[in-house]
Amino acid sequence: MSYETIVVETPVSGVGLVRINRPDALNALNAQVMDEMFTALEAFDATPEIGCMVLTGSDRVFAAGADIKQMAETDTVTMLTGSDFTDWARLARIGKPVIAAVSGWALGGGCELAMACDMIIASENARFGQPEVTLGIIPGAGGTQRLTRAVGKALALEIMLADRRLTAQEALQHGLVNRVYPVESYLDEAIKLAAKIAAMPQVAVRLIKDAANRAFELSLTEGLAYEKRNFFLSFGTEDKAEGMQAFIEKRPAQWKNR
Ligand code: CAA
Repeated sequence: MSYETIVVETPVSGVGLVRINRPDALNALNAQVMDEMFTALEAFDATPEIGCMVLTGSDRVFAAGADIKQMAETDTVTMLTGSDFTDWARLARIGKPVIAAVSGWALGGGCELAMACDMIIASENARFGQPEVTLGIIPGAGGTQRLTRAVGKALALEIMLADRRLTAQEALQHGLVNRVYPVESYLDEAIKLAAKIAAMPQVAVRLIKDAANRAFELSLTEGLAYEKRNFFLSFGTEDKAEGMQAFIEKRPAQWKNR
């Protein structure tokens, strides 16, 4: 499959890399970028040799948000009846972990895209913000929900109402990102983390991601019941038998991902 606005690679065994590549518009997320990006992630999700994905932009910009020039032409009815924003649900359906490797601007839809991934590795020059209010609109791809859950209501509202931008270190301090590295190494570090996850037994990885995501949807009682179901499911895998036997025999496990 050939793409025009993204670049797809397999930098190391087990890891699928998707790079947003629309430099003239600072990686603004128009319909084509979104469709190509989700299509590439879905393809990696369906590839048995891939265990984890990294989604990145350039060192200058992860993504400067939804495409303002495209949105300028759009009205409420077009938004309601079109697929540009409902398509974001495609990312939530990806079963394997997706790590966002963020450098430079992650604004509006760019920040929301990073937050919709499972983990965020940032470069020291990453900047996170939700400036939609300055355009007369509100965040529309999860900002009011995911940012508020990640950093708390007070800071999230300052970011969304007063266009405060967080530095990478502030994002780390407030739990928005996992780690911060120099610009020269953040992508390699994200790929290293992805390779480590890709080397884990993949059924367990999938069940853990699935259960952790439920923590945002369910009550504690329902979430614990959901976790228990996935826990019991993991006992039916060949990797459970191998992992426990390998521990007892004091040898490395040989995963079959089954
Ligand atoms: N959409 C479309 N084009 C964009 C864009 C966007 N979100 N962000 C930048 N561009 C374009 C600019 O129009 C410019 O194009 P031209 O050269 O054709 O004029 C080019 O990218 C370079 O941008 P700048 O000259 O502005 O670059 P800069 O380095 O001076 O500033 C920036 C960088 C601070 C990121 C600035 O571009 C900016 O503020 N961009 C908009 C950020 C924003 O408001 N994002 C939220 C969008 S709304 C949204 O995302 C809704 C949602 O919740 C899903």
